[in-house]
Amino acid sequence: MSRCIVTGAAGFIGSHLSEALVARGHEVIGVDAFIPYYPRTYKEQNLQGLLTQKAFQFHELDLRTSNLRDVVQGADVIFHLAAMAGLMKSWSDFQSYSSCNAEATQRLLDAARDESIPHFIYVSTSSVYGKQATGPEDSALAPFSPYGITKLAGEQLCRAYEANFGVPITILRYFSVYGPRQRPDMAYHILIRSLLNGEPFTMFGDGEQTRSNTFCTDSIQATLLAFEKRDRALGEVFNVGGGEIVSLNQVREMLEDLIGRKLEIDRQPARPGDQKHTAANTEKIRRVLGYNPDTKVYDGLKAQIEWQKSLS
Ligand SMILES: NC(=O)c1ccc[n+]([C@@H]2O[C@H](COP(=O)([O-])OP(=O)(O)OC[C@H]3O[C@@H](n4cnc5c(N)ncnc54)[C@H](O)[C@@H]3O)[C@@H](O)[C@H]2O)c1
Repeated sequence: MSRCIVTGAAGFIGSHLSEALVARGHEVIGVDAFIPYYPRTYKEQNLQGLLTQKAFQFHELDLRTSNLRDVVQGADVIFHLAAMAGLMKSWSDFQSYSSCNAEATQRLLDAARDESIPHFIYVSTSSVYGKQATGPEDSALAPFSPYGITKLAGEQLCRAYEANFGVPITILRYFSVYGPRQRPDMAYHILIRSLLNGEPFTMFGDGEQTRSNTFCTDSIQATLLAFEKRDRALGEVFNVGGGEIVSLNQVREMLEDLIGRKLEIDRQPARPGDQKHTAANTEKIRRVLGYNPDTKVYDGLKAQIEWQKSLS
């Protein structure tokens, strides 16, 4: 049994990860500040099952201001997922992005160094690559939005703490994650909501933008592999993507089929910072860690629809 810190534990992916760790018999200390980027009620629901588990402890705290040494003391691993995660808001609220994504990461790394934590897993994003994110991990990094820039700052802080102080780092670059609990600002969530409520959907761009979306349990599989195969993961950076590449138009068609209704579309030009094509090159994580994302997009969307129906 390991003692695991999960930051952003009340969020979409952090709550799934916490549940998976508890199910494997680990002790989890979840932290989250309920940053009001989207309503707190979603995050409280995400935590509901966890709060009944003896192996889960929760601390409502802000990584930017709290004493982190006390929190991380004695941990075997830190999974750092807390962040301001949506891309669009990063143009208008840079202060929150720079403080939650860069400054908070630096404070957590300081605590990890001081407490000699054996493994620090930093969850990053395909947005660090920039407009196209289709290559391997050593592709050029040219983030195209303030969000991507602040997440890359987090990666580079990890590298600086690794190089100067020997903090044992692994970096995971997630590619668009979806499934139950997906954030309400994310495209699939909005698409499904529009279809369920019979409301028009604003489509930015021509709908031909492609993604290799990752079902939440597949992103958790990758994250657990990085933890469980620590010796192979140390010092490495891995892309984490799904097994299928689909365009927004293809997803719309699948959703129309699953929900049994045609989507009304309000077409708008692509937005600043929007990536055109992201297709995770997952060759490295498959080869080194044995990652095998196995959720079909159609099945993943079906699960997300069921969850969104339960919200209303
Ligand atoms: N969802 C995706 O498709 C996706 C894709 C690539 C990368 N990521 C990364 O995965 C991680 C989790 O994303 P998510 O979609 O679950 O987002 P989320 O917003 O649901 O979860 C992040 C959580 O972090 C918390 N948080 C933010 N700043 C904090 C602070 N200063 N102190 C304490 N808690 C704080 C928030 O309150 C939130 O609950 C993020 O690091 C994000 O950059 C997500």
